[in-house]
Amino acid sequence: MHDLARRVEEEYENPSAAAREVFDQFIGALNEGSIRAAEKQGSRWVVNVWVKKGVLLGFKIGKIQRAVSAAPFQFFDKDTYPTRDLPALEKNIRVVPGGSSIRNGAYLGSNVTIMPPAYVNVAAYVDDNTMIDSHALVGSCAQIGKRVHVSAGAQIGGVIEPIGAMPVIIEDEVLVGGNCGVYEGTIVRRGTVLAAGTILTSGTPVYDLVQRRIYRKEGDQPLEIPENAVVVPGSRLLSRDDTFSRGLSLYTPIIVKYRDEKTDAVTQLEKHVR
Ligand SMILES: CC(C)(COP(=O)(O)OP(=O)(O)OC[C@H]1O[C@@H](n2cnc3c(N)ncnc32)[C@H](O)[C@@H]1OP(=O)(O)O)[C@@H](O)C(=O)NCCC(=O)NCCS
Repeated sequence: MHDLARRVEEEYENPSAAAREVFDQFIGALNEGSIRAAEKQGSRWVVNVWVKKGVLLGFKIGKIQRAVSAAPFQFFDKDTYPTRDLPALEKNIRVVPGGSSIRNGAYLGSNVTIMPPAYVNVAAYVDDNTMIDSHALVGSCAQIGKRVHVSAGAQIGGVIEPIGAMPVIIEDEVLVGGNCGVYEGTIVRRGTVLAAGTILTSGTPVYDLVQRRIYRKEGDQPLEIPENAVVVPGSRLLSRDDTFSRGLSLYTPIIVKYRDEKTDAVTQLEKHVR
């Protein structure tokens, strides 16, 4: 793997005649899930910058071609990033008909279900038994854990650039409610529930009513939502003291509680649809 990393770094800086061969080996490893844009070391998530460089190499050397499509629709994209071939039967993956796209370099684990339409972008990693619901996006390099439900209309943002930036991380057994948005390298720890409509970005402070603290991005440490938090969309009064802003409030996600039996009951995943 070290050798692949070194060759990707070299081709990214200065593509040679061997760039396509290196890229094909790289994209094969992403498709298999043997390399990832970020990985967990102990409890810390670490970005694999060379993997992100490999993704950019594909854009650099790819040539726009007509993508395979059924008339009358026409699609054009880089020849390095067609929709990918999936080992669906071996791994019990379902991509339900109706306009979803799984791009080359996206990894899907066993028993993943993709409801239409959904888009899973390059270097996204979707682990076993996860459901990606209709109108959902799993952006480039996003890392989604096991038994996660990315609900209808939820958007998991992609992070390719800046090159060292952490992608969005959704750990195991998280429920991302309908119409949520998780962007800019936010880490959502295991078991958390994001109520419908919750938006998290690197600039969003999150108020925890239970621990009585505020979570926010600090320096190069991304915004992190603690394990088993139940986060709902809320608001807070503007803190500046002037007559113009009086009465105005800002959107603020609020941790109202930590997961309990009631939360488990309302968020239980239905086995039979998986
Ligand atoms: C978060 C959620 C799971 C409820 O969890 P819960 O553990 O049952 O929460 P509770 O009912 O105990 O509520 C705890 C507090 O949060 C508030 N709350 C709960 N859900 C809320 C929401 N969505 N928005 C704002 N406040 C909410 C409750 O009013 C309560 O506050 P209060 O005691 O001051 O009244 C549920 O609201 C939700 O969003 N589910 C996801 C739905 C969805 O997107 N499904 C996807 C299908 S595709």
